Amino acid sequence: MSTPADTRIRETRARRLWDSRGRPTIEVDVVLADGSLGRGIAPAGASRGSREAIERRDGGARLGGLDVADAIAGVHAEIGPLLAGRDALDQAGIDAALIALDGTALKSRLGGNALVATSLAVLHAAAAARRLPLWRHLAGEGPVSLPLPEIQIFGGGAHAGRRVDIQDFMVMPVGAADFAQGLAMTAEVYAAAGALMAAAGRRQGVADEGGWWPVFQANEEALGMLVRAIESAGLRPGADMALSLDIAASEFGREGRYRLGLESRELDTAGLIALLGDWLEAYPIVSIEDPLAEDDPAGMAEFTRLHGNRVQIIGDDFLVTSAARIAQAAALPACNCALIKPNQAGTVTETRAALEAARQAGWSTVISARSGETEDVAIAHLAVGWNAGQLKVGSFARSERMAKWNECLRIAEALGPSARFAGRGALPPGARDASR
Ligand code: PGA
Ligand code: ZN
Repeated sequence: MSTPADTRIRETRARRLWDSRGRPTIEVDVVLADGSLGRGIAPAGASRGSREAIERRDGGARLGGLDVADAIAGVHAEIGPLLAGRDALDQAGIDAALIALDGTALKSRLGGNALVATSLAVLHAAAAARRLPLWRHLAGEGPVSLPLPEIQIFGGGAHAGRRVDIQDFMVMPVGAADFAQGLAMTAEVYAAAGALMAAAGRRQGVADEGGWWPVFQANEEALGMLVRAIESAGLRPGADMALSLDIAASEFGREGRYRLGLESRELDTAGLIALLGDWLEAYPIVSIEDPLAEDDPAGMAEFTRLHGNRVQIIGDDFLVTSAARIAQAAALPACNCALIKPNQAGTVTETRAALEAARQAGWSTVISARSGETEDVAIAHLAVGWNAGQLKVGSFARSERMAKWNECLRIAEALGPSARFAGRGALPPGARDASR
């Protein structure tokens, strides 16, 4: 008979690594008494919500002020001693202790980056001690599914020098029979979009998340190009491959004024809602994220009233993976879907609570990466193990993105024929058919 593993934390170590933009980030190792190792790396956003957990960065002139020496020192001086001897299986207790140790509303003292790397490391260590893949450790006896992927074809906004105002022009393979087919369909569309850009003399490399750099004269041009790319890949826009947008409106709007720099025009809340409404009419869009700015709850509520019955409306900067903010939005009501980013919340337990709050509201959920990413594939496991339904990690290029898609393929293989693909059913009911 095997004795249960000794899951008490023996050691916590932090180090500086580099993210996909070549910027410093923090990695934390947690080692248990039985030798099990868990490792977490903090990702980093570029278009952040103002209420997210705050990253601790050194400031000053070196490395753009982005170094993380202070965050690392905090792990060694305070977090390590706090965790020593604690049971790694008690994720909730450990996360509560981390939150109390930090003591600030937005985790600014020890840093959301130090906390999320630590929290993820504890999670990985617990799975390792149980000799389970992370997705299985998370799922327990609960249902699992491979997520419907949301994949960027053109990157804009803060990820492409603001070359266009809209941040993400994405596709979702709603007609795919399984996850692997969904990725293969996406590969065809990504390649077709690149070929169309090259033929038009507009191919200028890729943006931060691997999507094509958007050399367009107007934001809407990207939508036409997406539809042509889907057709040129031999797929039916809407029925096989639907469109999805992240407007990231907080990046170009505040106090009800929205400045579209590319088109040299300014819209008020009603004007932006009307423009997006026209796009919903003209293109097979099934999902739209942050259509209004984070300081415009009335706009978000109005957009939801008008379109919530036929399109997925995701809150990212607006909800910042906060269970409390999700509950507030549901009461308005505004949004019908929550983007779930572990480093916005700062701990695994709070991330999970945000997901549960969205479910409680009857919403769909999307697990999401950040624009600054690493080889860490934990979010692929969260998407499957928490049965989240959808996964957004950027484009279909560059290994910090592909690592997540590839990890899902490995999980699908491990699940075998019983693997359930969330598919179009992961979208809110009214958004499932964009072929109308
Ligand atoms: P970020 O943005 O990771 O650059 O903050 C991603 C998103 O808005 O979804
Ligand atoms: Zn977003």
